[in-house]
Amino acid sequence: MSTFFELAEKRQSCRSYADRAVSKEQILKCVETARLSPSACNSQPWSFIAVNGKEKANLVAKCTQDLGMNKFTDGCPSFIIICQEEVNLASKLGGRLKGLDFSEIDLGLVTAHLCYAAAEQGLSTCILGWQNEEKIREVVEIPKKSKVRLVLALGYAEDENVREKKRKDLNEIFKYVE
Ligand SMILES: Cc1cc2nc3c(=O)[nH]c(=O)nc-3n(C[C@H](O)[C@H](O)[C@H](O)COP(=O)(O)O)c2cc1C
Repeated sequence: MSTFFELAEKRQSCRSYADRAVSKEQILKCVETARLSPSACNSQPWSFIAVNGKEKANLVAKCTQDLGMNKFTDGCPSFIIICQEEVNLASKLGGRLKGLDFSEIDLGLVTAHLCYAAAEQGLSTCILGWQNEEKIREVVEIPKKSKVRLVLALGYAEDENVREKKRKDLNEIFKYVE
């Protein structure tokens, strides 16, 4: 088992996938882990639709490629569609008072859990914010009340070498006070 620190180093957005299938069990493990993610007032305002297997996955890939973006998804064997669901009353009221939509934050957290659960299993991911919800609904049946927010590309990386991480300098983003 990896440490969290190792996973954080290892996880990176994968934009080239090997021709190797992902199993239903691996996907379930990702989602089971993501269920443990925290959310405001434990609202858990999410649901997931996994699309596994070349044929159907390729249809989803096309829904992430508007304006020539994300062409790399063509070779990706699996996707997890991440939907936003209604928040509970406590989260809704708290969010209103604070001028925040907590569900957006919750969805980010749950997506991170999916990514790290995939990494722990030797899988790679790429979060795709560039997706066309209307097109996805033509390919996969999604309840009207669910809003497609992100799509997660999932598969084995063609190249597992970890790239240099380009990140803002610590001094730019961190202040320590005691
Ligand atoms: C909300 C969100 C949306 C993203 N959308 C896309 C996308 O549509 N296409 C893409 O190639 N990468 C997308 N990314 C991946 C980011 O570009 C990537 O996480 C960032 O550049 C840092 O690189 P790393 O993930 O390899 O560490 C998205 C990431 C997030 C968090």
